[in-house]
Order: sequence, then structure tokens, then C-alpha cells
Amino acid sequence: MTQNTTGRVAELKIDGKVYTLPTLEGTEGDKAIDISNLLQETGYITLDSGYKNTGSCTSSITYLDGNDGILRYKGYDIEDLAEKCTFVEVAYLLLHDELPNPRELAQFKQLLEQFALLHEDMIHFFDHFPPYAAPMSILSVMVNCLSSYYPEMGDDPLANIDITAARLLSKIRTIAAFSYKKSMGQPLIYPRHDLSYCGNFLNMMFDNPVRPYLVQPAVVSTLNKLLILHADHEQNCSTSTVRLVGSAGVNLYSSISAGINALWGPLHGGANEMVIQMLEAIHNDGNDFIKYINKAKDKSDPFKLSGFGHRVYKTFDPRGTIIKQACDEILEVLHVSDPLLDIARELEEIALNDEYFVKRNLYPNIDFYSGIIYRAIGIPTNMFTVMFALGRLPGWVAQWTEMSVDPSRKIGRPRQVYIGEKQRNFVALDDRG
Ligand code: CMC
Repeated sequence: MTQNTTGRVAELKIDGKVYTLPTLEGTEGDKAIDISNLLQETGYITLDSGYKNTGSCTSSITYLDGNDGILRYKGYDIEDLAEKCTFVEVAYLLLHDELPNPRELAQFKQLLEQFALLHEDMIHFFDHFPPYAAPMSILSVMVNCLSSYYPEMGDDPLANIDITAARLLSKIRTIAAFSYKKSMGQPLIYPRHDLSYCGNFLNMMFDNPVRPYLVQPAVVSTLNKLLILHADHEQNCSTSTVRLVGSAGVNLYSSISAGINALWGPLHGGANEMVIQMLEAIHNDGNDFIKYINKAKDKSDPFKLSGFGHRVYKTFDPRGTIIKQACDEILEVLHVSDPLLDIARELEEIALNDEYFVKRNLYPNIDFYSGIIYRAIGIPTNMFTVMFALGRLPGWVAQWTEMSVDPSRKIGRPRQVYIGEKQRNFVALDDRG
């Protein structure tokens, strides 16, 4: 798909001189002013802290309308994909532009099976992390290491991209489960060819020699849904990181490793862990909701209501709505009663009726209820952001690939407005007072 120039221009007047800037419009009506020649023509750059108004690329992967709460991958509504697909089908869609037919799906699954094992040498790496190591740091290191073991991408970033993508998807799941097993001091459970993508992950996490794990279809189905909801989200912080690092010509594994580190932040993927910590703190504080609501509103307090607010959504995050329902369903199936769910529901209710949150359009986001599901299916809190990374992987790969084949691709290199010292005379060390 190509970008659509509208024929309309924007006018910019600086010091009495009018400059015209071309505009373009996306397939869903997103409007943009093309400023690629701005500096050359006017001597000015744009300044936009946090890139609130700045598009870094055109993309045909994910469409997001933050005012109406719409999210689509390759044109398909997230509601349909979450309800009717497996994660592997959605990963295929993101990587290949179309949903797979049965033959394509079987071939893709076969690739995922083929690549599920880690090189045995890499398994020794786990021994050298301290037992308290954060799983996100292990994940990022191990994914970066994959480039040493599978250097087949070589100079051509797209050589064997299908194989590399399948390898990453399959191995990242094994790495995630092994890092958990190591942290528990339990023997590693190897992937099995007879289990599905999500079933395999659950089995590698929870099976052990003295207590075999029974893979439950309801848990597999919930995990599929969670991973689908996380699979892509256009130019968020970690995806932009993957693209930026990749724009320098860095291989896919290392670009994704950088994305994992970006995702780790508590304002981004790390928020799912923070939500549980916050709900536990409220619980331990005798359900003193008002104290935490007031802390979140207090500008002198760095505390924020984790799992609330979003850069793009100014209404309910559609992923949050689906997750909330999935949360109710799986807790009922598993007969789990989690006091944190009641706290989450009440906190949401209070925030949605509080003027501060209403005025700023702050709604629960994807991270608000996901942690309660993870707890119910046995995923420990420090693995929550790893789960986010597992889900986001196909999106990162698709975005990296789209960036790599874009003929207009340039190394990402923002400008700045320098506000430091003007030129000074150098003072020799002995003369400095
Ligand atoms: N609690 C209290 N106040 C908030 C919150 C919150 N969770 N989120 C935003 N605000 C306030 C913020 O202080 C600001 O107030 P004011 O206009 O008076 O200065 C206003 O709302 C606008 O917020 P912002 O920080 O300018 O918005 P942003 O787009 O830069 O930040 C955000 C978006 C997600 C980082 C932010 O909402 C936040 O920190 N939320 C909590 C962390 C979180 O849940 N992150 C997960 C995001 S969804 C998963 C993902 O995609 O990563």
C-alpha cells in the first residue's frame, strides 16, 4: 500500500514568508503534514517532546483510532481476531499480510515446532544469572545472543526472514519458560511437538517431574487471547525502538532485544506488574482507595494509577474491555476467587467517576486486568512483562520487516534544539580554579 498525497497543502508563515507543505492521508483518514523538506526550506525543525504529534513512518500493519477505541490488525477488528483466532494465526497475519489457509497454517506450525529447541550451549547461559535476575533482563540478553547462533541473516536483512521470524517466535517462548524454571531451581522442561504454541509454553512453565501439568483448554484459549491482544500496537515505545535500532542496519534479533528493554519500563509493558503491586498495596492498606486515588492526582507525588491512561486512547482501550471479560470468564472456570479483582473493579469504578480522571480521559488500559488473569493461571508477577513481550513479538518482527523494505527508509536520527553553553575558551587543567 502506498501513502496517499491529498493534493492539499498546509501553509506555514515564518517572518512574513509563506511556505507550502504537502499533506497526505492514510486509508482510514489519518491526516499528516509532510515536513521532510522543512529544515532545508525554512531553516526550522519541529520540536515535539514525546512525539505526541509526530509520525515516524507510514505503516500498513495496525490501525488504531484512540477516540473511538478501534484497533485493527491488517484491517481485521481486534474483537474478531481475539474471539476467533489462535495467536499463531494472528502472528502469521502480521508477518504475511493475510490470515493463513489451513495448509499455510500447518506449514507455519511445522516451522515453529522445528525451531522450538534452544542450542544446548545457550542453556548454560541461564546458570550464570543470579537467581534474583529480572526475567526481562534474561530475555533481552538471550534474544540478543540468538544473533550469534543463527547469523544467517548476514548482510541482507531480509534473507531467510520467514525462518528467522519463526525461529524467534518459537525460541522466545522456550527462553521465557526456561528463565522461569531456572529462577525456581527446577529442571527445564523441553518443548513437545504434540502441544500447541500456548499449550507448549504452559507445559514448559508448569510441568515438573513430580507433578505433571495438565494443559487445560480454557487456559490455553485465554492465553491465546491475551497474546493476540498484545500482538501489535503501531508505533508505541518498544516498537519505535525496534524500528529505530533496526534503521541503523542492526539485525532482527538485536533490534528485538532493544525493544524488549524498552517494553520493560513501568510506563509501558512494565505497567502490568505495577498494577498488581498497586492492588496489593491497596489491599494491605485496608482497601483505602481514596488514599491511592489522591496520590495519583497529587502532582507532587510521582505515583500514577498503573493500568490507567494511554497516549493514544482517549476512551476505553478496546483490549482492556476484552481482557476484563476474559478475566471474569477464566476466574469462573478455574474457580479462582482473587480479592485483587474486587479491588481492581472498585478502583476502576471510583476513577471513572472522579473528575480528575474524567477530565483527562483516563480509562483502564490493557494492563489493568491482564495481571489478574496471569495470577489465576499461575504466572508469577515478575513474568508479566515477559508475557507482554511474547505477545508483542510478531508485531515487532512485522514492523522491523516493513521498515527494512521501505524504499524511503533512512537511519532514524532526530534533531534537537541546543540550549547549552555557547562557545567558550578552553582552560588548561592547571589554570582551573
Ligand atoms: N494516573 C494519574 N494521572 C495520570 C495517569 C495515571 N495513570 N495517566 C496520565 N495522567 C495524567 C497526567 O499526570 C497528565 O495530567 P496533567 O494534564 O494535569 O499534567 C494527564 O493525565 C495526561 O497524561 P500524560 O502523562 O501527559 O500522558 P502521556 O500520553 O504522556 O502518558 C501514559 C501515557 C500511559 C504513560 C500515562 O497515562 C501513564 O503513566 N499511565 C500509567 C502507566 C501505564 O498504565 N502504562 C501502560 C500503558 S498501556 C500499555 C502500553 O502500551 O504500554
